[in-house]
Amino acid sequence: MSQSKLITMDEFTIQETRKFPQATGDLSALLRDIGLAGKIINKQVRKAGLVDILGKHGATNVQGEEQMKLDIFANETLINILKNCTECAGIASEENDNHISYEDTFSVNSKYVVLFDPLDGSSNIDVNAPIGTIFAIYRRVSELGKSCTEADFLQPGNRLMAAGYVIYGSSTMMVYATKLGVNGFTLEPSIGEFCLSHPNMKCPENGKIYSINQGNSVKYDDGMLGYLSYCMESNKEDGRPYSQRYIGSMVADMHRTLIKGGIFIYPADKSSPKGKLRLQYECNPMAFIIEAAGGKAVCGTKNILDIMPTELHQRVPIFIGSKNMVNKVMEFVKEKETVG
Ligand code: AHG
Ligand code: MN
Ligand code: MN
Repeated sequence: MSQSKLITMDEFTIQETRKFPQATGDLSALLRDIGLAGKIINKQVRKAGLVDILGKHGATNVQGEEQMKLDIFANETLINILKNCTECAGIASEENDNHISYEDTFSVNSKYVVLFDPLDGSSNIDVNAPIGTIFAIYRRVSELGKSCTEADFLQPGNRLMAAGYVIYGSSTMMVYATKLGVNGFTLEPSIGEFCLSHPNMKCPENGKIYSINQGNSVKYDDGMLGYLSYCMESNKEDGRPYSQRYIGSMVADMHRTLIKGGIFIYPADKSSPKGKLRLQYECNPMAFIIEAAGGKAVCGTKNILDIMPTELHQRVPIFIGSKNMVNKVMEFVKEKETVG
């Protein structure tokens, strides 16, 4: 594509926002600021093998400077950028015990809060496999002009205004969803901008890939084991057994699922009755994106987006991806009384 035909993420977001005359532009600005954080994290990710950033948090390098683990670096980058922008009243992060409310005059008057998993798939850093950043944006429910409160962060996914992720893969992309749909932007390194590369993304209704840590199957219940046998059967309507793919980084597994179709599963098991993945930082944003792309996300029999969160770091089982594959797995699994 010649550069004159490039549409930057900012241009695209502003054009979309103009469809709503009452929009103030705050959401566009917030998405731009999250994109900026993504670019800064990307710069550090791309240097990961070259500098001492792979060291343990707390270690010191030859200059005597403290080394930062990449997930701490990503967390601090997001916290600082969102603190300095004028559209965010506060954040909650997978890396922090409690939410942070920004107390300056601009921030207390901001209407949005952001939740994020600053670095998803961190076990993949040392092996140069894709990792990502996941974010979720809510309109706050607390009073404007005052500090935001925990209630702002404990809203169900069906109240999200926008959600997305940045994937640091063979290229760097930012994908975000609003109720209008899902669009993907690839970082053009020569101009340092995310440019529209995947307009109006749709998750295929059917797929041929299942994505799960099958090594845990000794801990799965009969319903889950039944579905795994179904995936491996060759006499399904769609013929051969499904392929199994599991990167171990939710962002990367979900990016493939969004584009190619398939199902991603992190179920409850005997040692983790609530599953592993976090509702507010991982499951809700991904469920919002997949639903906006025509797919489906459940925790068993209930839609992920309808779960009323009760605590910031709550975990839920997740079955997410192509609509027909999620409907199929629901025939096998029953929801345990573990989610609100
Ligand atoms: P994080 O790096 O943010 O802690 O998330 C890791 C998550 C998720 O990205 C991935 O899908 C899952 O953990 C993998 O878990 P297992 O190693 O248990 O399969
Ligand atoms: Mn994660
Ligand atoms: Mn993480």
